[in-house]
Amino acid sequence: MTLLGDEITRAESLAEVAELIRGCERCRLCQGRTHTVPGEGNPRARLMCIGEGPGANEDETGRPFVGAAGKLLDQILGAIDCPRESVFIANIVKCRPPQNRKPLPDEATACLSFLHRQIALVQPTVLLAMGGTAAEWLLGVKQSLGHLRNQVHRYGSIPLVVTYHPAALLRNPNWKKPTWDDVRIARQLLEL
Ligand code: URA
Ligand code: URA
Repeated sequence: MTLLGDEITRAESLAEVAELIRGCERCRLCQGRTHTVPGEGNPRARLMCIGEGPGANEDETGRPFVGAAGKLLDQILGAIDCPRESVFIANIVKCRPPQNRKPLPDEATACLSFLHRQIALVQPTVLLAMGGTAAEWLLGVKQSLGHLRNQVHRYGSIPLVVTYHPAALLRNPNWKKPTWDDVRIARQLLEL
């Protein structure tokens, strides 16, 4: 089945978007998936957190950020009084890339209409892009995390903060302090 972009922009609920994702064959990642991982959370979230793509645990369960990186994300969100159930969590791609490699440009491009629609439906106050892949595809720029973090970007009219990916934090604890600083910026933007 070929999904027309139109069908996605016409989807009137997050459940409808998830249903379209479930049937999606727009890119090769559909071939290896166990479950699609559309994203989940509060449909009226004020904070929307965007990662890269599902890993093994997410592919197994159909839920975003449920592995080790997800545990760390829960802690980070807890630290700014935004518990997981209060936010919406999604990814650039909705199917697991093989060996957890970075999504290829054609895969991200094929999948982005879903995320754009999800953002339009949730209408968050603040976006948090976690890691270089989320930043690259939401902002359309390719720069190092070090350059992108610690400032306020825009996705349309929505303020967007870039920080390290939780999986990167697990490998490099030196990035925890800057991540805490970044999510505090997001927290402040929520309070404006
Ligand atoms: N890493 C991501 O980018 N997304 C997930 O859902 C899990 C791990
Ligand atoms: N580089 C990335 O792409 N992501 C991180 O989170 C850290 C470094």
